Amino acid sequence: MIREDATIGNVLTTRTFAVNPETAAYLGVTATDGKVTAPSENGFMGLLTHPAPLIAISNAYESSTVSRGLYLAHHLLCIPPTPPPQRAFTPEDVSVELPPDPTERQLAEARLADPNCRGCHTQFETYAFAFNRWAGDGKFNSDERLVDNGPIPTGLGEIAFSGYHDFLPLLAKSAQFQRCTADHLIRYGLRHGKYDEAALDAVLAAAGGTDSGLTFRKLVRAIVAQLVFAGK
Ligand code: HEC
Repeated sequence: MIREDATIGNVLTTRTFAVNPETAAYLGVTATDGKVTAPSENGFMGLLTHPAPLIAISNAYESSTVSRGLYLAHHLLCIPPTPPPQRAFTPEDVSVELPPDPTERQLAEARLADPNCRGCHTQFETYAFAFNRWAGDGKFNSDERLVDNGPIPTGLGEIAFSGYHDFLPLLAKSAQFQRCTADHLIRYGLRHGKYDEAALDAVLAAAGGTDSGLTFRKLVRAIVAQLVFAGK
């Protein structure tokens, strides 16, 4: 990606994956030179739909909207949700009636329908809805009960999409994702030290802003040249 000067959003939308023979066998695909291109019927798209991240950010056999949503809000968008109440709730603690044998998404939707849960849970959980078709083992599931469309209420406003294939490009293009990636890169460069937020704005401005198709190259050049490292 760096060699090809690809946008940072490409991390979320690339259809080409590096795999070893074990991962290729797990996905049921044939690799050429350690690479696969996602077949259209088994859409994986971008790093988040690779089995390893899907497994890593899921704490349940099912799709795990809570843990995946937390990861997306915290690490991809840098919008940490309000911490949970002292008393831990169970999925059944909702005031609305649950359908029989509910899916993770139906449990999540019950929390969105309950005014006691909605305020916090829309801050993170809904981002994970686009990944409902991947179970906790990272495998794509064609079960018809698993729906991955929007619209979803989020901390960034309502987002409409018809599935992961158009949600991921929206996420990739969002200013919040690009800003958050720049923040991670600066922190990485500073060994996770604190820094003045004005430096983030300066880096983004020097790199051409978040709506210019920010690339890793532009970003790294801007970070190195900017005040962040000038005093180091
Ligand atoms: C003040 C914010 C807030 C409110 C209000 C809230 N939650 Fe949560 N809830 C969270 C956060 C944040 C997490 C993720 C916690 C973590 O794992 O770090 C969470 C996690 C959960 C989990 C997953 C627990 C697990 O670890 O598997 C369930 C179930 C849940 N909430 C149910 C509810 C229900 C039902 C309500 C309403 C009655 C509710 N919550 C209200 C913030 C909230």
